[in-house]
Amino acid sequence: MGKALDGVRILDFTHVQSGPTCTQLLAWFGADVIKVERAGAGDVTREQLRDIPDADSLYFTMLNGNKRSVTLDTKNPQGKRVLERMIRECDVLVENFAPGAMERMGFSWEHIQTLNPRMIVASVKGFGPGPYEDCKVYENVAQCVGGAASTTGFDDGPPVVSGAQIGDSGTGLHLALGIVTALYQRTHTGRGQKVLAAMQDGVLNLCRVKLRDQQRLDRDGVMKEYPQYPNESFGDAVPRAGNASGGGQPGWILKCKGWETDPNAYIYFIAQAPVWDRICKLIGREEWIDDPLYATASARLPHLKEIFAEIERWTMHRTKFEAMAVLNRQNIPCGPILSMKEIAADESLRDTGTIVEVDHPVRGKYLTVGNPIKLSDSPTEVTRSPLLGEHTDEVLAEFGYSATDIRSLRASGAI
Ligand code: COA
Repeated sequence: MGKALDGVRILDFTHVQSGPTCTQLLAWFGADVIKVERAGAGDVTREQLRDIPDADSLYFTMLNGNKRSVTLDTKNPQGKRVLERMIRECDVLVENFAPGAMERMGFSWEHIQTLNPRMIVASVKGFGPGPYEDCKVYENVAQCVGGAASTTGFDDGPPVVSGAQIGDSGTGLHLALGIVTALYQRTHTGRGQKVLAAMQDGVLNLCRVKLRDQQRLDRDGVMKEYPQYPNESFGDAVPRAGNASGGGQPGWILKCKGWETDPNAYIYFIAQAPVWDRICKLIGREEWIDDPLYATASARLPHLKEIFAEIERWTMHRTKFEAMAVLNRQNIPCGPILSMKEIAADESLRDTGTIVEVDHPVRGKYLTVGNPIKLSDSPTEVTRSPLLGEHTDEVLAEFGYSATDIRSLRASGAI
């Protein structure tokens, strides 16, 4: 069966996490992703957080599956000529270097355009144009400047960054969407274009509901679904809301059986309005169904702490999985807090290809997260990440270089 992006050739200058997330996704959709790395060194993550001596790290292998690796010194004059030829024949160039690096290499947007006007040049940067455009940015910096950290955590503690890599992987996803959109527009216009995904913008996009809340706070001075209501005062910026739900249905994390020793014996419980009567019956508080202090969603807002404490008295006597089974039967939305150990062992995630075991010639078998987006006409087969420069000869031959040319490029240090 064919793949959605069959025939799309991508020059992948990405490194670390944000860019590689994007190009790995495009490779899963069928694009030919040629990762261009510095000879002898490669993507810095190959050796970061290594768990097996001399083997590419899990950091690298889990972000670079389904790609081919070419080593090329783009600052070497012959290397530059190779890159020019590749640019002429590829569809997309993706990079997430520090601002200005492509220009310092001699590959500005204007130069790339003269080489190939159909080329899409896609970049991740920390910030968009403005006072911070020249800054280098990593994941947690993006979470801080995009509004995630100031709105995450508990109100009596410092700002907190999330384990979800919304700055890196989140921006990689945004960039991938920009690339396929530009490819689609090119089918009408015949022209390439620049695609920019700034990490600050990507995080802010994912924190959209908090900008919603800022405007509600500015207008009303209070937000009744926040845990600060009704007993604590609000400042002038959106406060940290602990584990409160970000939407219109109140929720909280509640202890389950075993919480004293198991840090993940908890369940997220949503006191969804349409099933309020079922919740009351389940926890033995049927009188709340008609009590005007509890009967409506707005009447319940000042009592959420008391309500969740009462529900917790019920969840604490069940494991998170027992609680989930009962709650699901009642159509009450909930989610057990799953540890990474539990997720890694989850058979259903393996059955759907969301968790995949891959074999690697140096490190052996490792687990990775497969394609979270399932297309019915474009199945994903996850393959291992490439060794450094594994495909240099093969790819250069496809771009018209003979064995003699390749030997001479190697002798010059260009590859
Ligand atoms: N041949 C020759 N030179 C190469 C090369 C190649 N194949 N590949 C990379 N280089 C050079 C670059 O040209 C650059 O040189 P320069 O500084 O002389 O211009 C150099 O390697 C290093 O690139 P840089 O991106 O500056 O790396 P860094 O380690 O200093 O910074 C980041 C890393 C992530 C902070 C930075 O790249 C960045 O801010 N990127 C944008 C935001 C981003 O994606 N952050 C998320 C990371 S997960």
